[in-house]
Amino acid sequence: MHQAETLEKIMAGNTRKKKISPMATADIPPRTISISSGKGGVGKTNIVTNLAYCLAKMGKKTLVLDADLNLSNVDVLLGITPKYNLHHVFLGEKSLADIVVEGPGGMMILPASSGIMELADLTEEQKLYFLSEITELGSSIDILLIDTAAGLNNNVIYFTLAAQERIIVLTPEPTSMTDAYAMIKVLSSRHDVKKFRILVNSAHSEKEARSVYRQITLVADRFLDTLSLDYLGFIPHDPKLPQAVRAQKLVSELSPKAAISSQFMNLAKQLYQEEMTPHIDGNIQFFWQGLFNL
Ligand SMILES: Nc1ncnc2c1ncn2[C@@H]1O[C@H](COP(=O)(O)OP(=O)(O)OP(=O)(O)O)[C@@H](O)[C@H]1O
Ligand SMILES: [Mg+2]
Repeated sequence: MHQAETLEKIMAGNTRKKKISPMATADIPPRTISISSGKGGVGKTNIVTNLAYCLAKMGKKTLVLDADLNLSNVDVLLGITPKYNLHHVFLGEKSLADIVVEGPGGMMILPASSGIMELADLTEEQKLYFLSEITELGSSIDILLIDTAAGLNNNVIYFTLAAQERIIVLTPEPTSMTDAYAMIKVLSSRHDVKKFRILVNSAHSEKEARSVYRQITLVADRFLDTLSLDYLGFIPHDPKLPQAVRAQKLVSELSPKAAISSQFMNLAKQLYQEEMTPHIDGNIQFFWQGLFNL
């Protein structure tokens, strides 16, 4: 398609009626938090979606960005099939608000899919249009949670660098710890990211989770200077979670009284309360500008 024609289509999309109307509850820019891990299958997608569910239940306008290209886990986990994704926005066929789908509890999901690959190749006009769309969307959300793929491919690096806060998920398995350490090491030494929050999943007790955290900080302290690794919390191992996954439901929704669901709620409350303090390092436009290198 000719570029001018594409732009025309894009601008036409801009006038479409937006589905997302409620204003954000807080008069501050949304927080952007990436959730990553060194090793795959440690529970990122379940953590993102359950936290988003709890935050949405608490009245926070929460947007999940499904940035895992490989499997697009979020929709599978929630049993939803978004018709459109970022690709359609970049083609000018849809506006950003058009592609956002509502998930359980009122959370919003931005399906990225293959669109993420195209970020780097957008024309200047497309980038600027996209940023204006994002600004509009940003005014209606409080918190953006980004579910990334495991490991360190370019996309994961982009999103981790662009986010204001980074949560690294690990489990008590030694391989998960070594992979998390390897990831932190690369982000810290090659990309100068120095601040991470550690979330231990599938722990049998808080004691075990703290011990996992201690082990990773001991190794990190020895080899990496000026690194800040904070303990965010833990999620217990609970067979109710895989049961919920099989039912394509969130454990927080299916078993709200289970210990694991209370723990998701506690973590969400912790994040919610932190949100009261304004964020100094950027907003959602900066997040995307960072991705675009604008
Ligand atoms: N707290 C938990 N208790 C019990 N099982 C869990 C727990 N967390 C995760 N699991 C199991 O791990 C599986 C993988 O979880 P999930 O898909 O969230 O991981 P992921 O890190 O997103 O994986 P990927 O790297 O492939 O994207 C779940 O389907 C579930 O079976
Ligand atoms: Mg996943």
